[in-house]
Amino acid sequence: MNNSIFVKPAKCLKGEITLPGDKSISHRALILSSIAYGKSVIKGLQKGKDCLSTLNSLKLMGVEIEEREDEVIIWGKGHCGLKEPVDVLNCGNSGTTIRLLSGLIAGQNFYSVLSGDKYLRERPMKRVTEPLRRMGSSIFGREKGQFPPLTIVGKKLKGIDYFSPIPSAQIKSCLLLAGLNSEGKTIIREPYLSRDHTERMLKFLGAKIKVNHLTVSLKGRSQFSARDIIIPGDISAASFFIGGATILKDSKIKVLNVGLNPTRRGFIDTLTKMGADIRIINLKRVCEEEVGDLEVRGENELKGITIKGAMIPRLIDEIPILAVVSCFAQGETIIKDAQELRVKETDRIKAIVKELRKMGANIEEKDDGMIIEGGKGLKGGECRSYGDHRMAMTLAVAGLASEEGVKISDTECIATSFPNFWEILNYVADY
Ligand code: S3P
Repeated sequence: MNNSIFVKPAKCLKGEITLPGDKSISHRALILSSIAYGKSVIKGLQKGKDCLSTLNSLKLMGVEIEEREDEVIIWGKGHCGLKEPVDVLNCGNSGTTIRLLSGLIAGQNFYSVLSGDKYLRERPMKRVTEPLRRMGSSIFGREKGQFPPLTIVGKKLKGIDYFSPIPSAQIKSCLLLAGLNSEGKTIIREPYLSRDHTERMLKFLGAKIKVNHLTVSLKGRSQFSARDIIIPGDISAASFFIGGATILKDSKIKVLNVGLNPTRRGFIDTLTKMGADIRIINLKRVCEEEVGDLEVRGENELKGITIKGAMIPRLIDEIPILAVVSCFAQGETIIKDAQELRVKETDRIKAIVKELRKMGANIEEKDDGMIIEGGKGLKGGECRSYGDHRMAMTLAVAGLASEEGVKISDTECIATSFPNFWEILNYVADY
C-alpha cells in the first residue's frame, strides 16, 4: 500500500486537544498487569498497532484481557502464570514489544518465537539477547542473536549486574522484566537516564525496586498485586502539535492531560530554551507519573541551540520534529550523540536530512546527528515516510509550516502509534 496525502500550508494552529494514551506506558501497563496477581482496570490505554501487538501477544500466552470502549480489563496471572503460545508472537513494527516481551518470557518455562514486520526484522536485538544470555537465557536470533525472529527456550535465570552501554529504556525494561523472574538481585546501570516508566509502574504496583539516579536494582521473584492504572496523553504524539504551534505565528493551542515525566520532557525543555512560549499548568501526579496541561503559543522568535549528551534520551523520539522546528529558528541547531536514531523504525538521521533537504532546508548529516542552519523555513515538495510513523507525522507538520505544502507517500504507518492523527491535525489547523 502507498497511501499518499497532501498537506497544505496552514496559517496557524488553534484549539484544545487531548492525545491518545502514552504508548510507552501503555505497553508497560499491559505487561505488568498480566503478571500481577488479580484484576486491573486500565484507562487511557493507547490502541495503536504497536500496543495491540503487545496486547495480542499477551492474550496468546493465556492472559485474559477484555477490551471495552473506554477501558481494558486484565486478569493478571502472576509471575509464573503465562502459558506457551501456540503460534509466533507477532510484534508487528514494535521494538518495545519484542524487546520487553523477550525479557518477560526469557525465564518462563516454555518455548516461544517472536517476530515482526520487515522493518522490525532489521532492528538490532543483540543489545537484549546478549545480557539475557548472561542471565542464563537460551535465546537465539538470526545472525548470532542480532535480528528477529527470536527464539526462546525458557530457562531458570539468575540476576545480573549490568552496565548498558546504550541509554535505552527498552534494554533496561527488558532486563528488569527478566529480573522479576530471576534468582537474586538484578542491577542495571546506564550512562544517561532513559525513560523510567517501568521503574515507576513497578514501584506503583509494590514490587521491590530501588532507583538511585542511573542505577536500578530489583529483587528477583518480586511479586505484586494488580492495581487500576490511568495512562496520561502521549507527550511524543503531542510534540507534533507543540512543534507546529511554535513555528506557526498566531498559533495558540492547549494540550490537555499529557504525560510530563521528566525523562520524556526534553522536547518541551529544549523548545523553551530555544525561546518558545510553552506553559505547564495543572501539574499533578497520577499512578507515579507527572501529568499536566500545556499552553503553547507561536508568537516568539526561536533561536538555534546545541542538543547533546543527557538531553538526547529525553527527546529521542522527538528529534525528527525538532529538526523541522530548527529550520524556522534563527541560526544553527546542532544535534549530537544521537546515533541511536540510525536504528529506530528507519535510519531517522538519514531520512530526515534527505526529506528536509528536498523541501529546501540547509541541513547536514553527521554520524551521530545533524546540523541545521535555520531561519529560512521550508518551501515544500514531495516526500516519503520510509514506513516510519514518526517520519510521516513530522513531514505532515513540515507541510503545514511550508510555503507550498508537502505530498507525503506511505502514510498508513501512522496507525502504529496515532490512529486519529489526521483528525486532530485537521481540527487544530487553521488554513
Ligand atoms: C521506548 C524507548 C525508546 C523509544 C521508543 C519507545 C520504550 O527506545 O525510542 O520509541 O517504550 O521503552 P530505546 O529504549 O531503544 O531508546
